[in-house]
Amino acid sequence: MIYQDPLAYLLGLEGIVLLDAWAGDHDRAFTEARLAEVRRLLDDEQLRDRGVLVEQVSSATVYEQVSAGYDGEAGGGLLATDEPVGAEYLSGREPGVALDAACGTGRFAEFLASRGHLVMGVDSSPDMLAHARRRVPQAEFRLGELDQLPLPASVTALPTGAGDGTGERLPTGAFHLPNDARLTRFIGAAPPPGDGRHRYVIVVQATEIEKVGQLQVQADSTPAWLGHSINTSRHLLGRAVIAPWAEIPAA
Ligand SMILES: C[S@@+](CC[C@H](N)C(=O)[O-])C[C@H]1O[C@@H](n2cnc3c(N)ncnc32)[C@H](O)[C@@H]1O
Repeated sequence: MIYQDPLAYLLGLEGIVLLDAWAGDHDRAFTEARLAEVRRLLDDEQLRDRGVLVEQVSSATVYEQVSAGYDGEAGGGLLATDEPVGAEYLSGREPGVALDAACGTGRFAEFLASRGHLVMGVDSSPDMLAHARRRVPQAEFRLGELDQLPLPASVTALPTGAGDGTGERLPTGAFHLPNDARLTRFIGAAPPPGDGRHRYVIVVQATEIEKVGQLQVQADSTPAWLGHSINTSRHLLGRAVIAPWAEIPAA
């Protein structure tokens, strides 16, 4: 249980600004005005004996209670304050892959998706996420704590040409599955000239198993079988999606 007294809260705020003044942020008049406020607060009858005992709960419990009214009440009007700032910041960005961390009901995820970004949202509240999934069906939403993002812990990269078929640039132990053309190499983007933009979806999946063989995948398995095996294995740790496009103008 926590004891919360509104008078203590207000005095604490005064303390923070007085410490700023102590560090040189403000002048004498500012400090004296704050000290006068402290005296007034201590003398205020309405702030006497207003303390309450409260239970500490997780933020998921809090948002379970507020999720239904979050969008309708718009934070008591507060959300309208940050939206223009967020919109200005995000509007100038080229469409790419966006992570909406602590996405809530998907306010900014929706904004980003409407501007062509591929959006993933993460939040620790299942209730807020349920709203976000309804609001932005094209985005991917994951339940997770921000200090333990449900993404691979380490970022890895493949050198250019890793899929050239020789296997020389692949990390030790890695192998290339034969693609739909039954070739063990990357064929490349090949939109016919004048056909407009072709979108390519590149998916990187991290699993909590050491060897792909544990998924019943062999060197000659199809990529579709690999995807199916990962999906049904329940060992998927994280999935990243990049969706570039290619276009060859008509001759
Ligand atoms: C005030 S809401 C903001 C939601 C959204 N970003 C917006 O601007 O509308 C804060 C959100 O942060 C989430 N949250 C709080 N702590 C979190 C944590 N440690 N990890 C992930 N999400 C968290 C809550 O569940 C809630 O949905």
